Amino acid sequence: MNLKVNIAGVEFKNPIITASGTFGFGKEYSQFYPLSALGGICTKGLTLNPKLGNPPPRIAETRSGIINSVGLQNPGIDHYLAEDDVRLAKEDVVVIANVAGACLEDYIAMGEKINESKAQMVELNISCPNVKAGGMAFGILPESVERVTRAVKDVCKKPVITKLSPNVSCIADNARAAEAGGADGISLINTLSAMAINYKTRRPILYNNHGGLSGACVKPVALKMVWDCFNAVKIPIIGMGGVQSYTDVLEFMICGARAVQVGTYNFTEPMGAYNIVKDLEEYVKAQDMDVNDLVGSLIVNG
Ligand SMILES: Cc1cc2nc3c(=O)[nH]c(=O)nc-3n(C[C@H](O)[C@H](O)[C@H](O)COP(=O)(O)O)c2cc1C
Repeated sequence: MNLKVNIAGVEFKNPIITASGTFGFGKEYSQFYPLSALGGICTKGLTLNPKLGNPPPRIAETRSGIINSVGLQNPGIDHYLAEDDVRLAKEDVVVIANVAGACLEDYIAMGEKINESKAQMVELNISCPNVKAGGMAFGILPESVERVTRAVKDVCKKPVITKLSPNVSCIADNARAAEAGGADGISLINTLSAMAINYKTRRPILYNNHGGLSGACVKPVALKMVWDCFNAVKIPIIGMGGVQSYTDVLEFMICGARAVQVGTYNFTEPMGAYNIVKDLEEYVKAQDMDVNDLVGSLIVNG
C-alpha cells in the first residue's frame, strides 16, 4: 500500500493538506494533534503588509456551508517569516505558503519574499481584486491568470501552484492559462461568490455585503471543475471544496486530484483532517492499493 504523493518534486507523506484560511499557521490545531500526521499545511493568505481584514460580521452560516468575507486578515509576510516560518519548518510536514496581492507588483514581491521562507511551495490566491485593473480579480480572465503566474515564476525558486477561482465561465481555460504561465500545479476551488440576507432588516448578513461560499454544499461543483481541469492540463491538481471524509478524498482523486485540501470542515471538527488521514490510511491498507492509481481513474458513461 502507498499513501505518498509527489507534486512538482515535493513529496507528501499522504495526500491530505489543510486549506488556506481555515487552519491559521497550524499553532492552534497542534494542540489537537501532531501536524506531522498531515501531508501538508497551507498557510493563511499572506500579503506584503499586515491586514486587519473586513469589519464583522465576516461569516454567515448556510444550510451546509458558510459564506466568509474575512478579507485576508493576516500579520504580513515579514511577521510570518520571523514567527511562524521557523516553527513550521521544525514540523515534519510540507508547508505551502499561500500568497495574495492587490497588483502584479505585490505578487512579484511576494514571490521574492517566499525565496527567504522555508516553505516548500507557494500557492497563489488569485481571487483578489486587481486594484490597477478596475478591481476585477486576477483569477477571472485567462490572460491575467497566465500573467500573474508567469510573473511569480520568473522570480520564485519554489514550485508555484496557481489556485483557481470557480467564479468564471470556463475553468479549464484558466487551468490552461496557469499551465502556459509556467505553473507547477493548480489547486481548486477557491470559494464561490455568494450572499446571505436577513429578510427582516432587508440587509445582507455580512458587513461586506457578499462573500465566498465553502463547505459541503460546494463539493459537487468542485468535483466537476477538478474533472474539467484534469482533462485540460498535464500539471498536477490539488482538489478542494467541501471535503469532510476519506470517501470525499477518494472522489476528488478519482476526478483527477493528486492531493486534496480540507478547509471549512476544520471549523466544525478540529480533528477533521487528522481523522480523514487515519480513515484513508485504513482504507488504502485494507485495499492494498497505491493512492496514485486513483488519480483521474473516473470511468465516464457513454
Ligand atoms: C474563513 C475562510 C478563509 C479563507 N481564506 C483563504 C485565503 O486566505 N486564501 C485562499 O487562497 N483561500 C482561502 N479560503 C478558501 C479555502 O482555502 C478553500 O479554497 C475553500 O474554502 C473551499 O474548500 P472548503 O469547502 O473545504 O472550505 C478561505 C476559506 C474560508 C472558509
